[in-house]
Amino acid sequence: MKLVVKTICCIGAGYVGGPTMAVIADNCPDIQVHVVDINEKRIKDWNDSNLSNLPIYEPGLENIIERCRGENLHFSTDVERAISDADMIFLSVNTPTKTKGIGAGQASDLKWIEKSARQVAKYARGNSIVVEKSTLPVKTAETIQKILNTENDKKDNQQSNFYVLSNPEFLAEGSAINDLIYPDRVLIGGDNDDAISALESIYLNWVAKEKIIKTNLWSSELSKLAANAFLAQRISSINSISALCEATGADIGEVSKAIGMDNRIGSKFLKPGPGFGGSCFKKDILNLVYIANYYGLNELAKYWQQVLDLNKWQNRRISKIIIKNLFGTLYEKKIAILGFAFKAETNDTRESPAINICKDLLEEGAHLSIYDPKVSSFQISTDLGCSHNYKSKEGSWISCDSIEDAAYNSDAIIIITEWEEFRTLDWEKLSQVMRFPAWLFDLRRITNVEKAREFGINVWNLGATG
Ligand code: UDX
Ligand code: ADP
Repeated sequence: MKLVVKTICCIGAGYVGGPTMAVIADNCPDIQVHVVDINEKRIKDWNDSNLSNLPIYEPGLENIIERCRGENLHFSTDVERAISDADMIFLSVNTPTKTKGIGAGQASDLKWIEKSARQVAKYARGNSIVVEKSTLPVKTAETIQKILNTENDKKDNQQSNFYVLSNPEFLAEGSAINDLIYPDRVLIGGDNDDAISALESIYLNWVAKEKIIKTNLWSSELSKLAANAFLAQRISSINSISALCEATGADIGEVSKAIGMDNRIGSKFLKPGPGFGGSCFKKDILNLVYIANYYGLNELAKYWQQVLDLNKWQNRRISKIIIKNLFGTLYEKKIAILGFAFKAETNDTRESPAINICKDLLEEGAHLSIYDPKVSSFQISTDLGCSHNYKSKEGSWISCDSIEDAAYNSDAIIIITEWEEFRTLDWEKLSQVMRFPAWLFDLRRITNVEKAREFGINVWNLGATG
């Protein structure tokens, strides 16, 4: 039976749901796309006529929203209605790591998935295709199917057929729109050919057929976890070598280039830094560790856990190096923090290395002046767990509107996020407003450290000596 999709509902208007649905709407003018969320503020922001107020910053997103919003792309809080109108429902809700109960600190908290699956079961009509978009532990599709069937059994009148598919998202924040338009591959996992064809036909509007891979449900779910684990592993690997470079006199830039030119290794994801952040890597590896332990594969669990331990170690060792170079005390010292997002070109701060590093410095009594072109002061205060006028022996922080404001009177500048504007810092100007002896800690190796040195600034460049 051919399943035709004319109306889509996406539950969850976050970093995955928002951009993904925008690109689907843009490429499928005959399909009406409804993105719903229980968070009223988020929906209000998605509907804001001023596009710079969209809840998510992603290059290229504003243009698509301008083209499609109100045409075939709609944002609302009416979850019930959007579900009941839809032929295909994407689950794009948050799945953070559990903070309590069994599996706390490792397993994903599936309460939002479960809640939305129940809503789908209650309000969906006819032959609905339910697509897992959120990153989920392997075998979640089975849980979703069970919920859908159980709730369905309770309905005494109209019965619905549900087909569950896994269609993991591989977009990276900051390049989400580009990744969605030109994906390396699209993965569809499932066991119903009609449902798979229906989802495939949506992607075929802009993705070549040979890029669409069809697998069973579990392979699809596991591929997403494994892909993220492999990427994160590369970062931990290069970061481990960065410390060895500092100890031996090798240069991580040179080593990374030499390694990456081996075709079998490849050059991507070999940039050293303060450690990976973002909502996926840590969560997905924790999931992998949890699943491995569950199946009694303890060695495997230990292996992947080490990728996370190394990442935490990288954060911590950087904080220690900063403190040590600033004479072992940050009391009454002002430190400019450049960048708070977990990577450039996003306003997302989830798991950002800036959070741990700033907390370490605050604990040592530093006064931080934080500048990030896209992260709000409200977000910083939520992440640091203290408001900006917080003053105590643990230190204090303020959020600044410019690099110069942040650097004014500072003893050190720390580059944490690789924003483009930090590549061309004017070291002559900055050296005039800093307090000497002044320091630069470049955790992304993006600025001209030689220029900084020329103006008398001490430099610590990650993965290099001197
Ligand atoms: C990641 C995956 O790339 C994406 O496929 C998946 O869908 C979601 O998780 P994301 O977390 O958005 O995407 O960004 P990514 O570009 O992967 O960066 C993750 C972290 O690794 C960032 O903190 C980044 O700064 C860091 N990183 C990345 C490095 O430190 N070095 C690198 O070479 C690459
Ligand atoms: P991701 O990065 O995976 O997109 P986000 O946290 O940015 O994660 O977005 C997930 C969104 O899902 C949030 O805006 C949240 O309010 C929404 N959400 C969670 N549960 C539900 C639900 N039952 N119905 C509608 N929206 C939901």
